[in-house]
Amino acid sequence: MGAYRVVLIPGDGIGPEVTRAARRVIAATGIAVEWEVVEVGHAALGRYGDPLPEAALERIRECGVALKGPVTTSVGEGFPSVNVALRQRLGLYANLRPVRSIPGVFSRYRDVDLVIVRENTEGLYVGVEREPRAGAVEAVRRITAEASLRIARFAFAYAARNGRRSVTVVHKANILKRSDGLFLDCARRVAAGYPGVGYRERIVDAACLDLVLDPSRHDILLCPNLYGDIISDLAAGLVGGLGLVPAANLGDGVAVFEAVHGSAPDIAGKGIANPTALILAGAMLLAHLGGVEAGRAIEAAVARVYREGKRLTPDLGGASTTREFTEAVIAALGDM
Ligand code: NAI
Ligand code: MG
Repeated sequence: MGAYRVVLIPGDGIGPEVTRAARRVIAATGIAVEWEVVEVGHAALGRYGDPLPEAALERIRECGVALKGPVTTSVGEGFPSVNVALRQRLGLYANLRPVRSIPGVFSRYRDVDLVIVRENTEGLYVGVEREPRAGAVEAVRRITAEASLRIARFAFAYAARNGRRSVTVVHKANILKRSDGLFLDCARRVAAGYPGVGYRERIVDAACLDLVLDPSRHDILLCPNLYGDIISDLAAGLVGGLGLVPAANLGDGVAVFEAVHGSAPDIAGKGIANPTALILAGAMLLAHLGGVEAGRAIEAAVARVYREGKRLTPDLGGASTTREFTEAVIAALGDM
């Protein structure tokens, strides 16, 4: 069988470090991947004057699959978020974020097993802000029935296919009666077609409290864009941090795998980033391509390195480098 063609976006900050780690681990599974490196973010801005060149999007559309490092977006100024634009322009409407405890990682809870399904194309992330008068700014929060039904169908189909217990819709329809009201209404309509999957609704602030007190109160969390973003970091905190949680951005015929975390400029270039999230994103990518066994092998190898606990990166209290951790994962893969 020929090699899979996959686009690799190194990204900014720790992106090149953690994508390199993921690439090495994927190579160690024996699955042949032909990587097509495509620049997006600051590298592309420097070279082409555009942080998200159309040619880069075209490469991803053609390949259908990409592994992506985080891309930096400046706060309060500069170009709009490349991450958001990439998701919108490729029609990656579902952001799937499995948040699972890894035995051996110090965290407040054991056995966390949550899945966040985040609407990925609209909400506050349409990025439309206007100034009706000096000293006042309004942001548009767009919710449509099409996108809401599409993400609800995705969440329920995922739940049914994976034998999940329930879907909790996270909303603030008590305040945002019409926009979150529409999101909620769409979820209810879809839920009616899945009597075998539990259905619940939770206001976003109460959902945060539930998760912090007892993450097992929820199973799949179906969220509009902003709540999904915030709850993802919160949930990452429940299992030991941002270095551990992978994400898949899924559309029709296109999938981009990345980490929940950003470019971590505070530790970039030091060789100490935790590559676990990107390595696990690589495992999701292989499963997506049909390499389910190889994906599982990567997860098992990562789990083993944490169980042994000798090669932890500094974010988890260890003193190992990105490279040492990665090599331990590769060695564990070799033993399987
Ligand atoms: P961040 O997720 O980059 O970092 C938050 C904290 O977690 C930092 O202290 C960082 O050192 C730590 N951290 C994150 N990933 C880590 C890892 N793999 N290993 C060890 N420590 C890790 O969030 P921040 O600082 O708010 O954002 C930095 C930049 O990343 C911003 O420009 C933001 O827009 C961008 N970003 C990009 C994303 C993407 O490409 N999908 C997602 C989130 C943020
Ligand atoms: Mg985020």
